[in-house]
Amino acid sequence: MGSMIRFEKVSKSYGEHVVLREFNLEIYKGEFITVIGSSGSGKTTFLKMINGLVFPTTGRIFINEKDISTVNLTSLRRHIGYVIQGIGLFPHLTVRKNIDFVPNLLGRHNKGYNRLTADRLIEIVGLAPEMLDRYPSELSGGQRQRIGIARALAANPEILLMDEPFGAVDEITRKMLQSEITRIHRELGVTIVFITHDIREALTLGSRVIVMKDGQIEQDGTPGEIRQSPRTDFVRELIN
Ligand SMILES: Nc1ncnc2c1ncn2[C@@H]1O[C@H](COP(=O)(O)OP(=O)(O)OP(=O)(O)O)[C@@H](O)[C@H]1O
Ligand SMILES: [Mg+2]
Repeated sequence: MGSMIRFEKVSKSYGEHVVLREFNLEIYKGEFITVIGSSGSGKTTFLKMINGLVFPTTGRIFINEKDISTVNLTSLRRHIGYVIQGIGLFPHLTVRKNIDFVPNLLGRHNKGYNRLTADRLIEIVGLAPEMLDRYPSELSGGQRQRIGIARALAANPEILLMDEPFGAVDEITRKMLQSEITRIHRELGVTIVFITHDIREALTLGSRVIVMKDGQIEQDGTPGEIRQSPRTDFVRELIN
């Protein structure tokens, strides 16, 4: 398996405050990584470094074996979908226009790259084609979340970053979205980095789970390894 994302001794500080400490991590193509840890442990900061929204204080980050400090950020982000909680769809645009927004924007500068159509994407996220003509206010929270995923997939990215994407939906919708994202991962083979507060979600969805504490990796292993041999008290408490 090829390397998709690599962090080499990455540290991030804001003034005196160290948020990430000598972070070393390699993520391979097609992995489904879940990230869990206490609030303020640096999860979002880590995720935003992957698409260049936050820069390291020291250390290097490679995407597809390229140091991202040397690449054009717009073309980097073209390969990376980003889903956040509450996703911020444009209220004055239909679902179709919301989904096509980024590819249209990029398409002006990058002709002919392999994008997915809104019709295909609505099917991928398990919604009826009629939804394409609605406005975000005419959808349920779970449906809006699916549109957020469709929009992140629209440029046919190699990497999908998800920051607590299912945090705001009810338990039943959450279960449905979980099986949907598992199927999308299998179907598209996209590399996923998924932050969650929910240990069950982390262990169910991830092919590998990263547990973070105070800006460091507390444990990095398969769900089985985390369950059977928690390395620290922190991890042990998390799974209990
Ligand atoms: N722009 C910033 N300036 C100063 N401090 C920041 C900035 N962004 C984040 N931090 C601090 O860095 C730490 C890590 O933040 P981060 O958002 O990565 O945490 P997190 O693990 O995602 O937490 P949560 O689970 O609450 O979302 C926090 O203490 C936060 O206050
Ligand atoms: Mg966060």
